[in-house]
Amino acid sequence: MQVKVEKLDDLGRGIAFIDNKVTFIPSSIPGDIINVKITKEKKNYNEGEVIEFIKTSPLRVEAKCPYFSICGGCQLQSLPYEKTIEYKKEKVTNLFKKNKIDINIDTVVNTHPYNYRNKINLKVVDGKMGFYVNKTHNVVEIDECLLASDAINKSIHLIKNNIKNGEVTIRCNQNKEVLISIISDDLLDIDINHLKEKIKLVGVVVNDKTYYGENFLFERMNNLLFKVSNDAFFQVNPYVATKLFQIIEDNVSKSDKVLDLYCGVGTLSLCAAKKGASVLGVEVVENAVLNALFNAKINDLENVNFVLNDVDEVISKISMDFNKVIVDPPRSGLTKRVIEVLLKIRPDEIIYVSCDPQTLVRDYKLLSEVYKIRKAYILDMFSYTYHVESILILTRK
Ligand SMILES: C[S@@+](CC[C@H](N)C(=O)[O-])C[C@H]1O[C@@H](n2cnc3c(N)ncnc32)[C@H](O)[C@@H]1O
Repeated sequence: MQVKVEKLDDLGRGIAFIDNKVTFIPSSIPGDIINVKITKEKKNYNEGEVIEFIKTSPLRVEAKCPYFSICGGCQLQSLPYEKTIEYKKEKVTNLFKKNKIDINIDTVVNTHPYNYRNKINLKVVDGKMGFYVNKTHNVVEIDECLLASDAINKSIHLIKNNIKNGEVTIRCNQNKEVLISIISDDLLDIDINHLKEKIKLVGVVVNDKTYYGENFLFERMNNLLFKVSNDAFFQVNPYVATKLFQIIEDNVSKSDKVLDLYCGVGTLSLCAAKKGASVLGVEVVENAVLNALFNAKINDLENVNFVLNDVDEVISKISMDFNKVIVDPPRSGLTKRVIEVLLKIRPDEIIYVSCDPQTLVRDYKLLSEVYKIRKAYILDMFSYTYHVESILILTRK
C-alpha cells in the first residue's frame, strides 16, 4: 500500500495515516512516499515496514553508518543534522503544549555530532560482537560505531576476537585513554601487550575484578578533574556535557546552599562548589560516591560533601537548609516521594536536568503547584538518536 509519511513520532519513526489510523513506520522520514506493509494492527494504531521507497523525501540524506536501520542505536541519520535539532525542539515543545504548558526553549547543539560517545556497550553472542538488531536479541556484528569516539572504535577491533559470549563496555576520555569492562563466563586470555601497543589502555575489568591496570579513568572538563570508576555514571558526550556544566555554573552563586540529588561522581556538585556555593551531593552507587569525595579533594574544593544513599530514603532526613536543589535523575524521573518533599521544603530554585522529556513534563506538572519555569534548554547530548537532554530552571512562583 502506498502512503506519504507526514511526520516523526517521539521515537523517531515516520508517521503516516492509513484510513485515518496512525501508522508508525521505522526508517521513513517526512516527505517519503513509500510502499508499506502493516506488521502489527492494534485498535488505535498500526505498525508498518517500508517495502519500497517510491519517492524519497527532499529532506533525506544518505545515512553514513552501514548498520543504520539494522541496529537499534540511532534513528535520525537520514536527516540533516539541523533537522534533527528542529525535530527534538518541536518534540519537547509539543509535549509541554499537550500538557497545557507554554515553554520557550533554548537549544544547545553538539559541535561533534559523530564520534562523540565516550562509552559504548556491546553484546557478544557466539563470537559476534555488536549491537542488538532492532527489537530482537540477535546481534549485528560491527567494526565501528559512528557515534563512538575514535579511541573506542580502535578498541573494538582489538578486543573483538577475545570473547565468545558476554558483554563488553568500552569507555574512553578526551585524552583517548581506554578502560575496557567485560562480563563473561569465558576463560579469557587477553593479549594486554598487544592492546597497549595500539591504544592508551588504562585498564581491563573482568566480571567487576581488575584484570589489568586500573578500574577507573580520569576526565578533565571545565577546569575540573574527575575520577570515574568503571561502574559509575558519567555523561556520555563530553562536547555537550561541558555546556551542561557551564549552565550549572551560570545558575549558581557564592551565597547558594545547594543539594545535588543523583550526583554521580560529583560533576554538577563540583561545578556549583567551584562558584563558592556550599553543596551536598546524594548518590546510590558506592564507587561513584567514593569518586565524588576524591574529586572534591583533587580539585581543592572544601565546601562540598557527599552521602551514599538512595535519594528516596534520605531526602526527608536531610536537615540542612537548601535554597537550591539540582536533580539529575535516571530516565524514570523523580518519585512521588521526592516531589512531595521538594514541595514541602520549597527551595527558591530547582534545576531539573533530565534525559527523558516524558518524565520531565510529568514531574514538572506536579512541581508547578509551587514552581514556574524561568529558563528551559534542550541539549543535543545524544545526536542522531531520538533521545534528548533537557534542563528546566524552576523558580518559586
Ligand atoms: C543521569 S545520572 C546523573 C549523574 C550526575 N548528575 C552527572 O552529571 O554525572 C543519574 C545518577 O543517579 C544515580 N541514581 C539512580 N537512582 C538513584 C537513587 N534512587 N538514589 C540516588 N542515586 C540514584 C545513578 O547511579 C546515576 O549516578
